[in-house]
Amino acid sequence: MTRLDLISIRDLSNTAIESLFEVASSFNGTRKRLSLAKDAILTTLFYEPSTRTRMSFEAAMLRLGGQVISMADPAASSAAKGETLADTVRIVESYADVIALRHPREGAAQVAANFSAVPVINGGDGAREHPTQTLLDLYTIFREKGRIAGVTVALCGDLKHGRTVHSLAQGLARFGARVVCIAPTGLELPAGLRAMLSAQHGLHCEHADSLASPLLAECDVLYVTRIQKERFADPLEFDRVRSSYMVSRDTLTRAREDAIVLHPLPRVDELDFSLDGDPRAAYFRQAAYGVPVRMALMAALLGLAPVADLRPTVNAASPTPGFQCDNPRCITRAEHDVPPMTTTFADGALRCAYCEAVQEEVACPGC
Ligand code: NCD
Repeated sequence: MTRLDLISIRDLSNTAIESLFEVASSFNGTRKRLSLAKDAILTTLFYEPSTRTRMSFEAAMLRLGGQVISMADPAASSAAKGETLADTVRIVESYADVIALRHPREGAAQVAANFSAVPVINGGDGAREHPTQTLLDLYTIFREKGRIAGVTVALCGDLKHGRTVHSLAQGLARFGARVVCIAPTGLELPAGLRAMLSAQHGLHCEHADSLASPLLAECDVLYVTRIQKERFADPLEFDRVRSSYMVSRDTLTRAREDAIVLHPLPRVDELDFSLDGDPRAAYFRQAAYGVPVRMALMAALLGLAPVADLRPTVNAASPTPGFQCDNPRCITRAEHDVPPMTTTFADGALRCAYCEAVQEEVACPGC
């Protein structure tokens, strides 16, 4: 069987996502230890802090009947001695049957996939994407609202640096949701992503710069995110926007009566604790869905569950000797054992094949 990875939400068709949801529903709420993956080992390679993503991956593999080996702290691994991601992956692929990776650098998951013989799942690569969070976010909307098409979702918060919203906006667009972006000035959804949503899915995100916007009254779902402090190059810029929004009971009085509140968590100070007892606060239910959804995904990638329309991603990357990505947050800017590769999308712009950033200037020594 051809190996499958999940690097971007684009790696799964809508049919595959719907089929995964059916499998996830069959696992939902189980407290039993199944024997479906009794011969499988998951390794979690986490180079950034995590509670939910890593632990729900691990719980999911244990519930499937498999085993887990974990690198939860890069300071306690050979990364602290300077080992590259590519080398680490070349080692752990022989220890495990599936790898879940989180890394602070954009494009890290693609690098891991290129060096791995076993499936790689992106658990968040810098500010770029977080596709498994999107699967559970879409699943939660589907469970809570009965559908995704036609649902109006407000993405609130740091839409510039938040990887969850970068994947979720694409998923929502593909399933026909309406998307309203509510972000403080300077933290809007990146222009390149907005252009892609519009060109490929005909989605034009409506925009507001505060929760006081009348658009709030039209939303079925408020997807709140924290300001991603760790991604700000300038601490003064973070100080300017910190505490600039907070969703509270009062905010909900201006929303539809049945509007639900989601959050990928952790929350810092953008979601009032007083909301927790309100049935519309769906964020703890959302986090719990992380287990059945990740069970379904790993069972699918390991060929242990019948999921429709799973297809290996067509990798259109070309080796490009001398190319250096101009995105300072790209994995290739930190690790030099990764062969330079480029790719293009439908818009024809030249992109780094790992972080997929459009290249402003192409450095090509000798050209
Ligand atoms: C998110 C992440 O790591 O991107 N958390 C998560 O995976 N549930 C959101 C965040 O850290 O703000």
